[in-house]
This record gives sequence, structure tokens and C-alpha cells, in this order.
Amino acid sequence: MSEKVYIFDTTLRDGEQVPGCKLNATEKLELALKLEALGVDIIEAGFPVSSPGDFDSVSQIAKIIKNATVCGLSRAVQKDIEVAGAALKFANRSRIHTGIGTSDFHIKSKFNSNREDILERAIQCVKWARNFTDDVEFYAEDAGRTDNEYLARVVEAVIKAGATVVNIPDTTGYCLPNQYGEKIAYLINHVPNVDKAILSCHCHNDLGLATANSIAGIISGARQIECTINGLGERAGNTALEEVAMIIQSHKDLGFYTNIDSKQLNPLSREVSDIMRMPVQPNKAIVGANAFSHSSGIHQDGFLKDAQTYEIINPEEVGAGESKIVLTARSGRSALAHRFQKIGYQYTRNDIDFLYEKFLQVADRKKEVEESDLHSLAKAYSPELATN
Ligand code: KIV
Ligand code: ZN
Repeated sequence: MSEKVYIFDTTLRDGEQVPGCKLNATEKLELALKLEALGVDIIEAGFPVSSPGDFDSVSQIAKIIKNATVCGLSRAVQKDIEVAGAALKFANRSRIHTGIGTSDFHIKSKFNSNREDILERAIQCVKWARNFTDDVEFYAEDAGRTDNEYLARVVEAVIKAGATVVNIPDTTGYCLPNQYGEKIAYLINHVPNVDKAILSCHCHNDLGLATANSIAGIISGARQIECTINGLGERAGNTALEEVAMIIQSHKDLGFYTNIDSKQLNPLSREVSDIMRMPVQPNKAIVGANAFSHSSGIHQDGFLKDAQTYEIINPEEVGAGESKIVLTARSGRSALAHRFQKIGYQYTRNDIDFLYEKFLQVADRKKEVEESDLHSLAKAYSPELATN
């Protein structure tokens, strides 16, 4: 029997912190509804104390979302927590996400404090948050660089104080997958009351390891992943929702499932990219423009014989339409014949041999040979057959 991994989407909070990605309340509301339809379990709608606009966005989202849990971020500060509680007042299901830095970098440089004081503040913030909701998530900021023994003490104490989810953020994206996985395993093995809460992975992508670390985390016992559409987020971003959802869906051998409706991934990726004015890199996994494009002759020939030779995901499964055979100077005869056929020309092997030489001349001049170039080649070769 496979186990559920909860998907906690933070596109509207960590994603929206990115310079240039700020959304107004209407845009946030529109995306929140799409995220709920996608099947995310928790929507982190914002940081209510940060501005009156964000307070309004969170409270409007809280009123309209029915199935997903709506979450608001706060620091370990009473006022923050009260404001988050007020913003979430009308939610069907609400969660307050509160916490404090636990690494020595944060304890000393940011708070000019010590481990015992931070432990007390962690316990206190969870208790304050429990006055507003039964669903309280604690984050141990910079857990990735926090000493495991101390982290285990913090996790045990916040669970005792009432935290139902404990977030273990790799805030700076520093951990290697085995280190992050071992950290989660350490907590599972050393925190006596860990069965009373869900451990959550919140991984940043500074070394390009956010997705790998999140997967290592769930393999070691975490059951929630915090992620964003297109991997948006502070600096190099967060774990990409589409990547973890498709890793879990493709690797049934991991023994997990999520509620994500994968067919919505590409349409929502485009919408987030447009609304946040943040282009998606073409080679981005799952949602990049080239994720299902084949351009070298060797790949195209194999793909045309059997798509599975070069594709592990059917593009329709992620709402990406059809795979593309792109024509470049590296393409082969089968790709050329296929593209001619798609636009109405049935050529014999001899025809293609002749046309291929002409095609290469065009391909060497251009980065990509377009449909209009194929029509021109066809017209020059067999005017009576030309369809355009
Ligand atoms: O990266 C981080 O540590 C965060 C916390 C606020 C959860 O975003
Ligand atoms: Zn973060």
C-alpha cells in the first residue's frame, strides 16, 4: 500500500517573495483557486503581518478555498501570530506556520542569542498559534545547517507544545541529498514523540538540489513537501512542485502518492509564468518548452519507432500536448519524412534522400527549419504536390 505525501504549495508566499513576482489580491485569489483544483493539500497564501495587502489576500483566500488547508506564515512573534490568526479566521481549514532560526548562524548572528533561549521562543510561538487553530506547523529555519542533536531537542519540544507538522527547511540549499535524508532519518530515530507530527521538507535550490533533497527527505520518513510551481522562490528558488509530483507518479516503486492532477501541470505553469512575469527556462523538467522536443537524428529515429525509447513521461500526462520533432542540422531522414507527412506530403525513400540534401543546406543556415521552409522545399521539388 502506498503512502500519501502531502503537497504544501508556497508559490503565493516563498514564490511571491521573488523580485518582480509580486501579485495583487485578485491575482493571488485566481491562483489559489487553480492550486486547489490542481489538488494541493495546503496553500501557503502569504505572510499576513507583512503588509495590509497581504493580510487582505490571505483572508480573501481563506474565505473562498473549501478543500485545501489555507496557511499563513509568521515569525515567532506574538503580534505576527495574532495577525495570521485573524487573517485565517474564516478558513474552512486553517494552519499557522510559525518558527525561528535554529542554526548557530541564525542564533548568534541574527538573534544575538543562545540555544536555550531559542528553544523557549520556539515552544512559546507554537503555544500562541494553538490559540487560533489546531493545525500548527513549526519551521526550524536553516535546519539544513543546524546541529542534529539540538534540532532533535527543538522538534521534540515543539511537538510537545502542540505542533502538528514540523518543517525542516534547508533554507540556504546547502545540504547534499544524503545529508538531508540522514537529517530526517536522525529526527525519526531520535525524537521520541515524532509519531505525533508530520515532518516536512522545505528545500531551496542554491546548488540545484532542492528536488533531490525533498525526495531524499520523504524516503527517510518525511511526509510533506513544500514546493512552488516552476520552482519559484527566494534566490535560486524552491523545490518545483511539478518535479516532485512527477517523480512520485513515475516512480511507483517509491511507494508514495499525491493528490496532484498531473494534466493541469503545464497549463498552470504557463499561467504562473505569465501572471508573475517570470519565463520558464526551455530545458526545465516537465514544463519547459523543450521538455518533450526531440532534435537529434538518433533520438528522433528511436522516438518515431517507439516514443518510450526517449520519453519516460507521456506529454499528455502532464498537459503538455504532443511531443515535438524539431528540425535542425542534426536531424535525420526519418524526422524529415515524418514532418513532411504531418503537413501532407507522402514522399518515397528516394524523394527523401534528394530532399534531405536540400534540407541540410537550409538547416545549416538556420537554427531551426520551420514548416514554411518545408513547404518551400516541397514546392521546389514537386510543384504539382505543393499544398501551400
Ligand atoms: O526557507 C525557509 O526557511 C522558509 C521558512 C520561512 C519556512 O521559507
Ligand atoms: Zn523558503
